Amino acid sequence: MTTNGQHRTVETKDGRTLPFGASQVGVFELVPRLGYREYWYPAIESKMVKRKPVTLKMLGDDLVFFRDTNGKVAALTDYCPHRGARLSGGFRRTPGGGPIPGKLNDEFKGYITCPYHGFVFDGSGQCVAALTEGPDSKLPPKLRARHYPTRELFGIVFVWMGETEPVPIEEDIPWYFFDDDVIVETYVRRWDMNWSLTIENSHDSHAVKIHRGNSRRLWNLNLFRKSPAYHGHMRISEEGDNYIYIVSTAEAKAPVTAYYDNLKKNWPQKTWFRFRTTRRTGGSTKKPKQFDPHRPGYTGVYRLPAWVSPSGSGDRSHLRCAVPVTENVVRMWTVTLTRKSFWPGLKRFWWKVVYHASHVYQLPQGTNEFEDMPVQSVGCLDPDRPQKIGATDVGLIFWRRRMPLKSRDAQRVWGTKKVAATAAEIKTAEEREAAEAL
Ligand code: FES
Ligand SMILES: [Fe+2]
Repeated sequence: MTTNGQHRTVETKDGRTLPFGASQVGVFELVPRLGYREYWYPAIESKMVKRKPVTLKMLGDDLVFFRDTNGKVAALTDYCPHRGARLSGGFRRTPGGGPIPGKLNDEFKGYITCPYHGFVFDGSGQCVAALTEGPDSKLPPKLRARHYPTRELFGIVFVWMGETEPVPIEEDIPWYFFDDDVIVETYVRRWDMNWSLTIENSHDSHAVKIHRGNSRRLWNLNLFRKSPAYHGHMRISEEGDNYIYIVSTAEAKAPVTAYYDNLKKNWPQKTWFRFRTTRRTGGSTKKPKQFDPHRPGYTGVYRLPAWVSPSGSGDRSHLRCAVPVTENVVRMWTVTLTRKSFWPGLKRFWWKVVYHASHVYQLPQGTNEFEDMPVQSVGCLDPDRPQKIGATDVGLIFWRRRMPLKSRDAQRVWGTKKVAATAAEIKTAEEREAAEAL
């Protein structure tokens, strides 16, 4: 035994040394640190792209957004193909990207002008004029900035980040967005952490620890709710080409407190104030859940490239999409869906009040930013350390091992040989782990 109490170590095939029994498939062994590329991602709210171009970093790429001659939002690389200046002209940049205002680049409506030598580009990325070389310059037809396909839906600009031909956007957005009866609300924030951590934890056991005692829960009386003491086990209830559903098999039956023999204590230790049996989060439980027919209770989805539905009940569904910015920064989209028919007439105004004054306060802010973010942020959690995962981690094991092989990146870019070889390696690793566990 070593001085830190570690018994023995094992060497992995890729040369890492792990404590005996640690999971051999790390967070990023197959999941790309900068995200899957062959997908449509939400980029920016349409209303934020006006006459002035704005820049955003996505999946490590710097993009610039502006309105083309048709008034549609176009996206190009933010680097001018002439000599590499930022087309956005932005200089007050942060690692997470913008949007920030540029300078001297919006002189021609429908085009973007490089602030350095004044080369002008249209929405497809084609250079149409080189102002400082004059009207007879031969360069414009030869210069093209990389163009990223865009689609505007539900007030959101989506961008195809892939190298290959874009798929119809409907393949990459959960179907209920396209329901005529839907209202879509978005809340976007930058989080200092890797994108994948906040996806893979969405259906692990942390909720019963982290999400049980915040003063914001006073307002909807959830602080007094009888919460289960543990999750117990998770299982994959359904699997598709680009998604899985995960259910907790023990939570519904778990007691409010449980006894731990080694500690000679119960946990949670104080439960006398938990007397409510109905769940109030997410609105009235009298209304049926409409947007996710797969979810019988507190279950959820992992959907490629980066969608999760951590919770939802009553009249609304709460989804998140984690858009990688850099390896340590993610732009977190929280999307709330409800039905127009739940809020007819003047009640629509009441929904806005409920959404801004209660829902945002409780969920994306109170739950995610106050409780999740501090634990998972850079400096608080190191995803590159060896891990030992258990029965409540089946969702993330699947996310790390199986979902990458389902991804469009695997099918279109990684190559079938690599995918087959990786699948074989996973099988070997699982067999080895099983043997070592004996
Ligand atoms: S670098 Fe853009 S015009 Fe020269
Ligand atoms: Fe959480």
